[in-house]
Amino acid sequence: MDIPRIDSIDVRNKRVLVREDLNAPIEDSRVTSDARLLAALPTIKQLRSQGAGRILIASHLGRPAIGDTPTTAPQFSLAPVAARLCELIDEQVELVDFERASNMKAGAIGLLENVRFLPGETDNDMVLAGKLASLCDVFVMDAFATAHRAHASTAGVIDLAAVACAGPLLLRELDALSLLLEAPARPFVAMIGGAKVSTKLGVLDRLAEIADTLVVGGAIATTFLAAAGHRVGRSLIEDSMLDEAGRLLASCQPLLPEDLVVASEVRPGVETRIVPVDGIAEGDMVVDIGPVSRMRLSETFDEAGTILWNGPVGVFEIDEFAAGTRHLARSIAKSKAFSLAGGGDTLAAIDKTGVAESISYISTGGGALLEFVEGRTLPAIASLHARA
Ligand code: 3PG
Repeated sequence: MDIPRIDSIDVRNKRVLVREDLNAPIEDSRVTSDARLLAALPTIKQLRSQGAGRILIASHLGRPAIGDTPTTAPQFSLAPVAARLCELIDEQVELVDFERASNMKAGAIGLLENVRFLPGETDNDMVLAGKLASLCDVFVMDAFATAHRAHASTAGVIDLAAVACAGPLLLRELDALSLLLEAPARPFVAMIGGAKVSTKLGVLDRLAEIADTLVVGGAIATTFLAAAGHRVGRSLIEDSMLDEAGRLLASCQPLLPEDLVVASEVRPGVETRIVPVDGIAEGDMVVDIGPVSRMRLSETFDEAGTILWNGPVGVFEIDEFAAGTRHLARSIAKSKAFSLAGGGDTLAAIDKTGVAESISYISTGGGALLEFVEGRTLPAIASLHARA
């Protein structure tokens, strides 16, 4: 891909602004998953070792409302992220506002407070983009997970910065995805789970064309089962997507579950039963895949050359319904295939199963990953391309 790359830029003694995606889960003012912070660390270290004069990191956190400030909506402050970064880097990372950001000392590392507090950020306002550009000599776009947003800190600033380039994490993500999409070792198996067909329709359509086997799981699979004429009881399905699911069933015959775990309610401690797909009763809700389907998944992944995984196959947050998703994670980890996994729930399932080391590449992207696989041009990549 023709975009300016960090390796060809001299950052020595320069003021560097690096956009990361540090939108991490936070509970009680503490970061509960380091995944996105750890993914950004090599970039900070690389900038340090390349002699960057001062490093200012920018990120968003959540979706504050227009007019919110760190005082009125402290739950969106990056303060817990700054604190955790200090621990991980073992250096001082000061949380700074715009004014302090422009007066940072040489050698310092700063984290700009949540860019979504800045008026104009989500509108890609060019005045704000110009202010961000004025904070640096070199702008490094490294936030793959936010590259699908045309915001001032992900797109506009690239157009206006004196020098703009892609950072190491963004480049790693693009390389892994190119491997997956352009020259996958066959068979290419794509596993798409999760709640809604509607949010993944574009990616399902693309994968129906390029994957050798498309496997669907979770409530997405239940909607497909309903489209195939099975009774699904009180399970969560998307009625508005039945025609689309029927179309995909006809065009690419996705692998559907053969047996399921059902319960009368989605809550811990409830009694569960294993039923074949045509054995779902009126009051049942599908909560996981059954043992036959799990075995079929293992066989499919054993034979795969490339695996893409996004989304769980059951309500894995509840232990009683997590066996299918745990089995899925273990089967992918065991496979010799090149495996790429991404998405918030997928990462949580990988963490819960403890198999992160055995997945070939774990993407930081959720929505960005899906849009990229779908073949859409990500605004940040388009802006970088225009600077090549
Ligand atoms: C994500 O978590 O997918 C990214 O950080 C993007 O967040 P957003 O959907 O709020 O833009």
